[in-house]
Amino acid sequence: MSDAEPPTAESDDAVAAAFEVVARSAPQIRGGLAGRRGKTDGRNASGETQLAADVWADDLLEERLTAIEGVGQFASEERDDVVDAGDGEYAATVDPLDGSSNLQSNNSMGTILGVYDADLPAPGNRLVAAAYVLYGPITTMVTAREGEVTEYVVENDGSRRAVREDVTLPEDPTVYGFGGRVPDWTDRFADYAREIEDELKLRYGGAMIGDVNQVLTYGGVFAYPELQSRPEGKLRLQFEGNPIGYIVESAGGGSSDGETSLLDAEVEELHQRTPVYLGNEALVERLEARF
Ligand code: AHG
Ligand code: MN
Ligand code: MN
Ligand code: MN
Repeated sequence: MSDAEPPTAESDDAVAAAFEVVARSAPQIRGGLAGRRGKTDGRNASGETQLAADVWADDLLEERLTAIEGVGQFASEERDDVVDAGDGEYAATVDPLDGSSNLQSNNSMGTILGVYDADLPAPGNRLVAAAYVLYGPITTMVTAREGEVTEYVVENDGSRRAVREDVTLPEDPTVYGFGGRVPDWTDRFADYAREIEDELKLRYGGAMIGDVNQVLTYGGVFAYPELQSRPEGKLRLQFEGNPIGYIVESAGGGSSDGETSLLDAEVEELHQRTPVYLGNEALVERLEARF
């Protein structure tokens, strides 16, 4: 664990405090990746082998987010169960390291935060805020709260400065990125993909946060679709689909699991998976029309 003073964000505004903890932890997470690329013998609730970086980033965020007065619950993609953090009214969820398989190939990764005003597992329509950090050539953070989406550059000391305010999806979409293996796509998704490829430019980086940041920047659609082998898709609703759906919908876009907005999807299990479709509303509606 870094010996730097752990960031605390004393504030009675738990959402602002959670944003501050994630922003100020980002340079430390980024700085700690190089030596933590190896696999542990641990597996998470989704059955994935955990990298040392997954576990380390998760411990660091759990310690700091549960220390926030208003946070009463914490849950993570890397932990089986919800952590009781006292009697705060909010529940914080993290995907501590999104796209951690990109660590091997040194490509972009992210950290995803959700803040719910309900006990977990909770539907996306109980989110009061969400954010993600993108560990790209520079470290940026996107926050969404009360309908306002803001993009920041995060400095090495964890301070941040807004570089884009009131972020909205560009009118004319230009990019798409679809996960899963093409032969494993269902016919109805493959048909949709064929239609889109004539209109948009393929850019797929293998980490949801990198791919979503492209859609927020250039407009378009990101999907990790239903698969023949996995009709429920790969991504986790609580930790990935909901917070990113909240951010994209706050930026004027649409989100869907094929039937309905991700934010209205029923959440039975903390680690339940969901197909994820996100981006310009018209592109998401065209997909829903097929499902
Ligand atoms: P995580 O590293 O948090 O498990 O997330 C990985 C996810 C997501 O970031 C990305 O969209 C998807 O897995 C990529 O899956 P493939 O490697 O199958 O493309
Ligand atoms: Mn994982
Ligand atoms: Mn992820
Ligand atoms: Mn992850």
